Amino acid sequence: MTVKLKHWLVVASLGLLCAVQAEAQTATKFLADRHVAKGINCMMCHDDVKKGTIKLNEKKHEACTQCHGWYDQVAKKTVPVEKDDQNPHSQHDGNLPCTECHKGHKPSVNYCGGCHMWGFKVP
Ligand code: HEC
Ligand code: HEC
Ligand code: HEC
Ligand code: HEC
Repeated sequence: MTVKLKHWLVVASLGLLCAVQAEAQTATKFLADRHVAKGINCMMCHDDVKKGTIKLNEKKHEACTQCHGWYDQVAKKTVPVEKDDQNPHSQHDGNLPCTECHKGHKPSVNYCGGCHMWGFKVP
């Protein structure tokens, strides 16, 4: 192996290391930070950024549904791998706010866990 090629490999693996570290950092941030990092600005979730009130549509559904859809749509993305597990989006509370589980700037909450045994990890 030529010296030049070895040098290139060191540079390339360092680059990879940085990329892995950056990925780990974004993964630990809260939901709102991960959205902002993808170019989604504060006003796409909020109608008042100072108060932090969430934008609602005419059905009183939160801004989240404008991009991700209502429960019927998100439930299709979270079909459990094990058939005995429960889909977190097939719920019996009707107009349950998404933010009952998904928090913006703090750790999310497993709302169902207040009554059921499912250990949902809410992103
Ligand atoms: C302007 C559009 C938009 C709005 C509003 C929005 N999202 Fe997202 N969301 C995205 C995009 C784009 C992604 C990244 C691509 C993907 O994973 O679908 C994403 C990813 C996610 C993810 C998976 C990735 C992660 O980082 O955890 C969750 C969970 C999520 N959004 C929940 C929500 C919730 C809850 C709200 C409301 C509080 C919301 N989103 C509001 C566009 C939006
Ligand atoms: C009961 C708590 C709870 C509520 C309420 C809830 N979610 Fe989720 N959501 C979860 C959990 C748990 C996951 C992760 C599921 C998984 O990884 O299999 C998730 C994952 C997601 C994802 C990522 C799906 C993917 O592609 O992996 C999106 C987007 C999302 N939720 C949007 C919403 C929206 C929009 C609403 C309101 C209409 C909502 N959620 C309400 C618990 C909840
Ligand atoms: C993906 C949607 C989303 C985005 C983007 C977002 N927020 Fe939030 N924000 C929330 C949710 C949900 C809450 C409700 C409280 C919580 O979950 O922390 C909230 C609450 C707040 C609050 C009330 C105080 C608090 O922490 O509870 C403020 C202030 C706020 N956001 C400011 C901002 C600013 C400034 C930005 C842009 C840098 C931003 N938000 C981007 C979802 C979002
Ligand atoms: C306030 C308490 C409470 C909360 C919170 C709650 N449930 Fe339930 N759930 C119940 C009760 C009570 C029953 C009826 C139990 C029975 O029939 O044995 C039930 C029944 C169910 C059932 C059908 C029976 C079963 O165990 O298969 C499903 C599915 C379910 N809940 C899903 C959810 C999901 C998903 C969430 C979170 C979005 C949730 N529940 C939140 C109280 C709750």
